[in-house]
Amino acid sequence: MKKFLTFLIAAACWGAAGIAASAEDLRPAFLLTASPSRDTQDLSGQWTYSKDLYRTGLNDINGWVAKSRMQRYRDLDVAALEAQGGTDFFEFDLDRGPAMAVPGAWNAARPELRYYDGLVWFQRKFQSKPLNGGRAFLRFEAVNYRAYVYLNGKEIGRHEGGFTPFVLEVTDALREGGNRLSVGVDSSHDAQTIPTVITDWDLYGGITRPVRLVYTPATFIDDATLSLKPDGRIAGELRLQGPQAARQNVNVTIAGLATASAVTDAGGRAVFDIAAPAGLQRWSPDSPRLYDVRYAAAGDAVRDRIGFRTIAVKGRQILLNGKPIFLRGISLHEEEFGPNPARNMTEPAARALLHEIKHGLNANYVRLSHYPHSEVTLRLADEMGLLVWSEIPVYWSVDWDNPAVLRKALAMQAEAIYRDRSRASVVMWSVGNETPVSAPRTRFHSAMADNVRALDPTRLVSAALLVERRKVNGEDVTAIDDPLAGKLDVLAVNTYAGWYGSDTLDALPGLKWQVPPDRPLILSEFGADALAGYRNDGNKKFTEEYQTEYYRKTLAMADAMPTLAGMSPWILKDFQSPRREHPVFQNGWNRKGLLSETGVRKQAFGVLADYYRGKAAK
Ligand code: GCU
Repeated sequence: MKKFLTFLIAAACWGAAGIAASAEDLRPAFLLTASPSRDTQDLSGQWTYSKDLYRTGLNDINGWVAKSRMQRYRDLDVAALEAQGGTDFFEFDLDRGPAMAVPGAWNAARPELRYYDGLVWFQRKFQSKPLNGGRAFLRFEAVNYRAYVYLNGKEIGRHEGGFTPFVLEVTDALREGGNRLSVGVDSSHDAQTIPTVITDWDLYGGITRPVRLVYTPATFIDDATLSLKPDGRIAGELRLQGPQAARQNVNVTIAGLATASAVTDAGGRAVFDIAAPAGLQRWSPDSPRLYDVRYAAAGDAVRDRIGFRTIAVKGRQILLNGKPIFLRGISLHEEEFGPNPARNMTEPAARALLHEIKHGLNANYVRLSHYPHSEVTLRLADEMGLLVWSEIPVYWSVDWDNPAVLRKALAMQAEAIYRDRSRASVVMWSVGNETPVSAPRTRFHSAMADNVRALDPTRLVSAALLVERRKVNGEDVTAIDDPLAGKLDVLAVNTYAGWYGSDTLDALPGLKWQVPPDRPLILSEFGADALAGYRNDGNKKFTEEYQTEYYRKTLAMADAMPTLAGMSPWILKDFQSPRREHPVFQNGWNRKGLLSETGVRKQAFGVLADYYRGKAAK
């Protein structure tokens, strides 16, 4: 039943109209949020693959019935069958197909796949162990964009969305000894996907994050979370799944701080309300204290590392643990250093990026744009002490009036929030980036904001809004005039005066802003392209000198903005984008990084680092 539900939810996302009734409705069938502490089998490594440009291996695409000789997921030993001769023949064989590394995008794996955007079938064979009455799940951390999953020739489930995890039960399909896992990955986007076809980042199709086989008891802890309340108490919940889920004793231990117990209800849910523990060291960027937490119930146990902090707004201030904080940030795409990134964010790769942010730029905040980044990055932000803005890719435009698209967005939010709601670093959920104002758009974002508050009332809601230039009493002002503002805790704007448009750099410090006086404002983006090493050419655009001056002048503008509570300039590192094709300065790279793609610091890096050092000292 649960498995069919997983299938159903995915199918609902793709077609059936109708908005989610409640946050609970959006809860995926399985989460396995604490799976890093579970008995798992990492299926990373070489996977064989087969291109399927015309999607011949898939049924129900416009009524297409896949020819069995093209169904790449079939559980067949093609070579052995061919050896027998006879009339049957096959037009695939992933046992003898080429291979590539998973996780990672196929665009970086093979020159011939550099700009391939479509369906590719992957196969991974693996041995599993006896379940002895237990259960087994496949947990995909991310597949870009649509995934069709088969085990031993049987369809297990589907998922849509390139940046959030999904869990599929394989208890019945798994066989002792050898298993054949087949995953059809379709990277293509259209008017009903999130994001839609055009973005300012690269394709990165494939199984871009780890896939793990997770073993659990028959009744297991599927999800658990804790967070600090404004009154100092610690609240949380735990979900048991399985035949023994109801009326079970549950214990939670926060090492060195507190223990508590509760009983699950008929649905397997238990809630915790722990008295304010004496001696709690609150988490903050300057002291990112994490506590070892152990949850136990029904013979199962999982662990997590959690920091406790509060986040709130008061007037134009953002309050961390009750104190005003200025967010000294930078924006970041999920792309490792190097000339040919595969969007394979390993722990060392994430640490290298976050280290430059924290220790290079003296920052305390990072905007993880424009989609949920890898869990490894979030856990490192917890450990290293960086506040995080997280968003789903409702970017530029989506099919606003389409209820099925809204349900997709709400489901993506739910997947991101359930995955990261125990991360102290995450303080803000964003519901959109640079979407032109219209009534359907504002309705869509409002529903997303309500959804966030229902799923997670402990964090702030924001969105990266567009600014408007207008004349007020003959004076040129930059204004925020967005009906969505009323739904947000923190206002954020992307501004590119001095790069796009005709403003000169000298005009920037004097730019007049018209913004709500009593709300915290963030500059969620500003930036200018510079090709690393291109210097001494008269401060022209794309020179390092121009970018440096642009930063100096924009920071001077920022200093004159009274409600400014933070910023995340665009962007830490040059990143790949099919929209950037200047043959001398770009070659497929957006060059607004303060670092080159290989990590070379541009001049402007120092300007921001000095500015943040000054801010931090205040
Ligand atoms: C936009 C957008 C980014 C883009 C940037 C740019 O604001 O949000 O995704 O890369 O501008 O133009 O460089």
